[in-house]
Amino acid sequence: MGSARGSYRRPAAIPFPDRNPYTVPKAALGERLFFDALLSKSHTRSCATCHNPSLSWGDGLARAVGEDPSGLPLRAP
Ligand code: HEC
Repeated sequence: MGSARGSYRRPAAIPFPDRNPYTVPKAALGERLFFDALLSKSHTRSCATCHNPSLSWGDGLARAVGEDPSGLPLRAP
């Protein structure tokens, strides 16, 4: 049990692939896209709709709601 928990521990630093290293412009683009509703079919939802920073990156709902108002079978982590 202890060893399994250890292997799921968050790394001390964010790992980046050698062929796609971190840059400030890429981070800025990612942040911009994360909050841009243009990525959704109806242009009304961004990643942050379900992964809201002020709700611990969740949506506060028991099940996430996407384009289909009947909702998704999963909770947004
Ligand atoms: C309609 C709500 C919704 C939107 C919009 C959404 N997500 Fe999610 N997200 C979810 C749900 C629900 C899960 C859980 C899926 C699962 O458990 O298989 C999830 C899972 C994830 C995970 C996996 C987290 C983990 O711990 O494994 C990541 C990463 C993620 N989303 C990023 C994004 C990004 C990036 C966007 C925008 C491009 C986005 N999400 C948009 C609902 C949403």
